[in-house]
Amino acid sequence: MSPAPARAAPLRLPPPLPPPPLLLLLLALPLAGGGPRYEPIWQSLDARPLPAWFDEAKLGVFIHWGVFSVPSFGSEWFWWYWQKEKREPYVKFMEANYPPGFSYEDFGPLFTAEFFDPNQWADILKASGAKYVVLTSKHHEGFTLWGSKYSWNWNAIDVGPKRDLVDELATSIRNRTDLHFGLYHSLFEWFNPLFLEDATNVFKTRKFPTSKSLPELYEIVTKYQPEIIWSDGNGNAPDTYWNSTGFLAWLYNDSPVRDTVVTNDRWGVGSICKHGGFYTCSDRYNPGHLLPHKWENCMTIDKRSWGYRRDAKLDDYLTIEDLVKQLVETVSCGGNLLMNIGPTHDGRIAVIFEERLRQMGTWLKVSGEAIYGTKPWRAQNDTVTPEVWYTFSPKGGKVYAIFFNWPISGTLALGEPQAKVGETEVRLTGHKELLKWVALGEKGMLIALPQLSLKQLPCQWGWALQLTNIN
Ligand SMILES: *[C@@H]1O[C@H](CO)[C@@H](O)[C@H](O)[C@H]1NC(C)=O
Ligand SMILES: *[C@@H]1O[C@H](CO)[C@@H](O)[C@H](O)[C@H]1NC(C)=O
Ligand SMILES: *[C@@H]1O[C@H](CO)[C@@H](O)[C@H](O)[C@H]1NC(C)=O
Repeated sequence: MSPAPARAAPLRLPPPLPPPPLLLLLLALPLAGGGPRYEPIWQSLDARPLPAWFDEAKLGVFIHWGVFSVPSFGSEWFWWYWQKEKREPYVKFMEANYPPGFSYEDFGPLFTAEFFDPNQWADILKASGAKYVVLTSKHHEGFTLWGSKYSWNWNAIDVGPKRDLVDELATSIRNRTDLHFGLYHSLFEWFNPLFLEDATNVFKTRKFPTSKSLPELYEIVTKYQPEIIWSDGNGNAPDTYWNSTGFLAWLYNDSPVRDTVVTNDRWGVGSICKHGGFYTCSDRYNPGHLLPHKWENCMTIDKRSWGYRRDAKLDDYLTIEDLVKQLVETVSCGGNLLMNIGPTHDGRIAVIFEERLRQMGTWLKVSGEAIYGTKPWRAQNDTVTPEVWYTFSPKGGKVYAIFFNWPISGTLALGEPQAKVGETEVRLTGHKELLKWVALGEKGMLIALPQLSLKQLPCQWGWALQLTNIN
């Protein structure tokens, strides 16, 4: 992938394409009984258009929840860091707090979820303004949050909550919200003996994917009909070992979610940022420039962990200012933001996460028209005033300029827009009145912001100007 140059000369939007000849149009039409069939090869799978809802949604909430939420210390990689890498803080934590011989499996029954109220979670997620949620159905520890047939005695029905957490959340999300429901699934498992055996055989044997990962994937799709499969954890094995293309061909051709499902790019060594659906490229990926392919910035509100950590300091949590900025930059550059929270072992969304989510929703209530359903504009950020980001709403041809610092002068200079005297109109989202502006030469404009008291500003984490009739 070749990223667009950082400071590319302003591009003109290309003229609309002429309508395709009738024959081509007919060929592209879905065949009776479903869309086109995809072949289990990347060339075919990668050509599948991404269902439109995903790009329009812009914001999702990621939920990392599992047995790692019981020690809730350091990281969701607790088991690996403690037993495999033997990192000192983890070893000491266990020595100080648990009896000798206590195993990771012994945390299973302590994953109790007694406060888990899926309706309350659904209401919080809805209030965040997010349009989708992605739950870790199974992380690298192998514990399934649903009662999997393929995860004997290491699933949430047999051990711990004795509840089907995936089903309960899916049901509440669908009953109470219009969020799309997605599932994260780890291909590999750190300590699964079958995986370790295959790894020893340099992945020439495929006992683990055929008896565990793949049956699980078919099981969650059939049972819960997730609209996102967020795959992760290739275990250094190629996609041929995982039979990722075979699974995806089924997912896109024959599964109950074939028309709406989206997937990411983590399907085996070398597939990230290259194959699959939207690109994630790396954790916390935020390139700062437009990408030619749909992408997602998956990041955490707790800067240092995906799973809940009791040892987190207030400072470790991003502020709402940080989060709004992340969302705006990401959306300007064509990405979606997937913002992670880690619930506790007893099923709570800690109030600090809840607060951040609700704050995001408050901001989006006012400025959401500059986010949802938008497309990148010809420029992503301004050339005159730093930290001004643009989005474009194809409906009505509106350009949005989003900024985070209210200028003391009361005027905002923009270098990119080409305003038309007598035609261009400027408003602050959430306010009706038209703002005065003057053109600055051939390009650029100086906008007089409304004189508002702090009280009249709905929130102070960022504002969006709506520009109409603009080039
Ligand atoms: C979801 O809605 C259905 C139908 O209205 C209802 O039967 C079911 O009890 C609801 N489930 C939850 C968990 O609220
Ligand atoms: C891969 O998956 C497809 C679809 O389920 C199946 O037809 C094919 O036999 C599988 N290939 C291997 C090598 O397991
Ligand atoms: C705008 O984007 C360019 C390229 O990423 C960058 O060099 C510049 O600092 C950005 N300005 C901001 C963040 O305001």
